[in-house]
Amino acid sequence: MRALVTGGAGFIGSHLVEHLLDLGATVRVADNLEMGHLGNLDAVRSGIDFHECDVTHLDRVEALCNDIDVVFHFAANASVPRSVEEPEKDFSANVISTANVLIAARDAGIRRIVLASSAGVYGQPKEEPITESTPTAPISPYGGSKLACEGLCQGYARAYGYEVVAARIFNSYGPRQPRYIIHDFYHKLRQDPTRLEILGDGKQVRDFLHVSDTVRAIAHLADVACEYGFDYYNISSGRAVSVVDLAHIMIEAMELEGVELEFTGKSWVGDAPNWVPSPAKLRATGWEPRLSLEQGVADTIQWFDEHAGSKG
Ligand SMILES: NC(=O)c1ccc[n+]([C@@H]2O[C@H](COP(=O)([O-])OP(=O)(O)OC[C@H]3O[C@@H](n4cnc5c(N)ncnc54)[C@H](O)[C@@H]3O)[C@@H](O)[C@H]2O)c1
Repeated sequence: MRALVTGGAGFIGSHLVEHLLDLGATVRVADNLEMGHLGNLDAVRSGIDFHECDVTHLDRVEALCNDIDVVFHFAANASVPRSVEEPEKDFSANVISTANVLIAARDAGIRRIVLASSAGVYGQPKEEPITESTPTAPISPYGGSKLACEGLCQGYARAYGYEVVAARIFNSYGPRQPRYIIHDFYHKLRQDPTRLEILGDGKQVRDFLHVSDTVRAIAHLADVACEYGFDYYNISSGRAVSVVDLAHIMIEAMELEGVELEFTGKSWVGDAPNWVPSPAKLRATGWEPRLSLEQGVADTIQWFDEHAGSKG
């Protein structure tokens, strides 16, 4: 497989690049290094074709799509709070970039595009578990832009004859993650092992999937059957836990005792109270997660400990 990974210097993108190389793919990477950084690609730098470029420019994306079979489009604004603060940037990084990939793929003979979509397309669904049939109803500019990306993918796939599969990623975590809850809890606990501040009431429910399992799922989506030219899959572990449960798993893995949990009572705009997704559709295609939450958290904490002081 000749793969193009946009956003390949980011958290998930860089793990995906490593995994695709392990599978024997030839990998081209495009990233503007706004949020990602080259250090994420240190282990593979000599084995990839790296381009520092902004995928909101169509001519740049067209130049990248030559001799490519599959595009993994991961470049985006990945932050819900940032999308609330700067919706125009979110729209450009997410929607314009996706349109560019789809337009460039039209003439380049691209076989398939795998889009990094998000659980954000569901908003705050009342249904549990969330399946791919659950209605979409975004509650943030980010969720709206990801849903717009999916709409473009569906329409372009039907018009131009390639296949697009959207990965509705829930909460991916692991080494090199530069933000979000597991990263934040780790740093707060290392700074003050006696207390942990938790946003909201801690009852929010989430499904955390280690990034090694996330990228195995994403690579798998390059080959799953795609009967109607467009399809989408939840990317999750199948085990939902509360934020308080996660805190206890982390506290145990960090071998801390007597940590007092403190709750802010208020969370941020766009933070859904509960996400209990079902990965059954993906599982039916032969993918299974390999790491439990406890194993994945231990792996991540070990990486953070070993890289204290780095961007992780
Ligand atoms: N991390 C998660 O749990 C999660 C959940 C749902 C969806 N996603 C999606 O997965 C993808 C990767 O997320 P991540 O957590 O690795 O985030 P990330 O910020 O680490 O990665 C995004 C990368 O895209 C690059 N980028 C942004 N705009 C660009 C542009 N205009 N041109 C070129 N490069 C650009 C950034 O520099 C960064 O390296 C995103 O599309 C995100 O929306 C992630």
